[in-house]
Amino acid sequence: MTQLFPPGTDARLRGLALVGAAVLVLAGTFAFAWARSDGAWRLGVPAPQPIPFSHAIHAGGLGLDCRFCHAGVERGAEAGMPTAETCLGCHAQVWNVSAQLQPLHTALALDVPVAWASVHRLPGHVRFAHAPHLGAGLDCATCHGAVASMPRTVKAETLSMGFCLDCHREAQPARAARHAHQGIPMPPLADCSTCHR
Ligand code: HEC
Ligand code: HEC
Ligand code: HEC
Ligand code: HEC
Ligand code: HEC
Repeated sequence: MTQLFPPGTDARLRGLALVGAAVLVLAGTFAFAWARSDGAWRLGVPAPQPIPFSHAIHAGGLGLDCRFCHAGVERGAEAGMPTAETCLGCHAQVWNVSAQLQPLHTALALDVPVAWASVHRLPGHVRFAHAPHLGAGLDCATCHGAVASMPRTVKAETLSMGFCLDCHREAQPARAARHAHQGIPMPPLADCSTCHR
């Protein structure tokens, strides 16, 4: 029978298989590390905004309360965003010549909200509401980090399912005791239906 492959082929194939396996292991390790890294959750990455707004100047330097601009946070699901009027209350006087503030005038003229980009938006299948968390005495910084010192708003916590669940498991006993006392039946905080529709 004629030889189809030159001598030494077998060794080379085995070598190739070994290299292939090593590449697979490396790729797997990399994918695993990436999925758990800050980069995958876009921590510390600012979003392009219509106006270069700075919490460091307004909440930090000027000392404005978070609720001055995010008025819904105590009562509702959404914290809410400031209207153009809220900004122009000051910026009709201060910095009123700045072209940076043009989107405020456009929003006002067209009667539409300023198109701020979000760095915290959760996927649509997750249910979240601010009010019960603030009612439980939590601080903005627990989930948003030191916003008042941020020149550009970034995500400080992953807001992953694990992040939510860690606290919900810990908070469950106190909540159960509170609700038993009030006589309202409530599903455990770690139940899937608490956060998923
Ligand atoms: C003068 C108004 C103003 C004040 C005061 C203010 N914010 Fe904001 N906030 C904004 C604006 C405008 C945006 C959208 C632009 C941006 O993300 O920087 C924003 C965005 C945010 C976001 C990101 C929302 C998202 O969807 O990703 C968080 C979180 C936030 N603010 C928290 C706070 C906290 C906490 C405080 C108090 C320490 C605070 N803000 C005070 C105006 C304000
Ligand atoms: C328990 C965690 C937690 C706490 C505490 C918290 N937030 Fe949030 N915040 C979130 C999550 C999660 C989102 C994204 C919600 C979504 O996409 O449905 C969010 C979204 C926001 C937004 C974007 C607008 C909106 O509501 O969708 C603003 C502004 C904001 N938070 C401000 C605040 C301020 C101000 C405080 C404190 C007074 C605060 N948050 C406390 C978790 C928290
Ligand atoms: C309580 C008054 C007040 C309110 C309300 C206010 N600002 Fe300001 N803002 C200031 C002052 C004062 C400065 C100037 C700070 C400095 O440079 O000394 C400033 C600075 C700025 C700057 C320049 C930032 C830079 O990097 O130098 C921008 C842009 C801006 N504000 C946008 C906004 C927007 C958008 C809103 C509404 C979400 C807003 N401001 C609400 C008082 C205010
Ligand atoms: C640091 C603690 C903490 C973190 C982090 C946290 N939660 Fe909560 N959450 C609570 C507590 C405490 C309550 C219950 C408040 C009460 O019983 O009045 C609650 C209540 C809720 C409720 C209302 C449940 C109900 O039926 O009353 C939802 C929905 C919810 N959390 C979703 C989330 C999601 C989604 C995340 C992550 C993005 C998250 N939470 C992160 C502490 C936390
Ligand atoms: C305390 C809130 C909370 C509870 C309870 C919870 N989840 Fe989640 N879940 C989340 C959040 C937040 C995300 C989105 C994370 C992200 O941004 O991708 C998520 C994402 C998911 C996803 C999408 C895939 C993924 O990993 O992102 C699935 C599937 C899921 N959850 C299933 C479940 C099941 C099943 C349960 C019950 C055993 C459960 N969840 C309980 C908050 C919760």
